[in-house]
Amino acid sequence: STLLPAAQPLLGKVVTITAGPTREALDPVRYISNHSSGKMGYGLAQAAQKMGATVNLISGPVKLNAPSNVQVSYVNSAIEMRDEAIRLAIESDIFIGCAAVADYRAADIAEQKIKKQGDEMTLTLVKNPDIIAEVAALTKDRPYTVGFAAETQDVEQYARGKLKNKKLDMICANDVSQAGLGFNSDNNALTLFWQDDQVSLPTSNKNELALTVVKAIASKLD
Ligand code: CTP
Ligand code: CA
Repeated sequence: STLLPAAQPLLGKVVTITAGPTREALDPVRYISNHSSGKMGYGLAQAAQKMGATVNLISGPVKLNAPSNVQVSYVNSAIEMRDEAIRLAIESDIFIGCAAVADYRAADIAEQKIKKQGDEMTLTLVKNPDIIAEVAALTKDRPYTVGFAAETQDVEQYARGKLKNKKLDMICANDVSQAGLGFNSDNNALTLFWQDDQVSLPTSNKNELALTVVKAIASKLD
């Protein structure tokens, strides 16, 4: 790279990032998912790569091109994302969970297309594994673990709750009740929380925010 060493604080570090939504199949033609664009996670991957890291990106289905010089694993379901996340986390220095993982999946995936029947139908869902909590709970080879929290109310309280309950090192919270920010948008406003610190970043482009977030992680590492 042409960047000076000071601009490459992650040289020699391995960073694994999850991005985008997951898709939970109901039958061969239908799924449950969400509107995550993957832009923040892809921005983080690009930023970490520019700062010298070896980067793995675990991506749900999104309409984005792979960032250059990043190893991308494409997955669909939360279970697939979890398996790939654990495999890569144990060889990583930093793990960033930016994916909008579906909280639940169908209890049973129908083998054939579900036929329309009565006026109502009920789906039974079961909870998905909490990927980032599993990474943070690793006893051997645990990476510095960073989560995201998209909230529509009581942002600090919920974000700090997730930081503590999932045993994360850091969490990046955004208020998705603000129109045009967060989910499926180019812009975001984040507040970064650590157990003993916090910093609010002004609204900006997700790629610019990604550089600031990765710099903040690098500065807390040493
Ligand atoms: N996350 C995860 N696995 C899940 C759910 C969430 O790894 N099954 C991660 C997300 O990638 C994010 C963090 O946990 O880094 C917070 O996700 P969020 O959806 O805000 O939190 P939940 O614990 O699912 O709580 P809720 O959706 O009820 O707010
Ligand atoms: Ca959730």
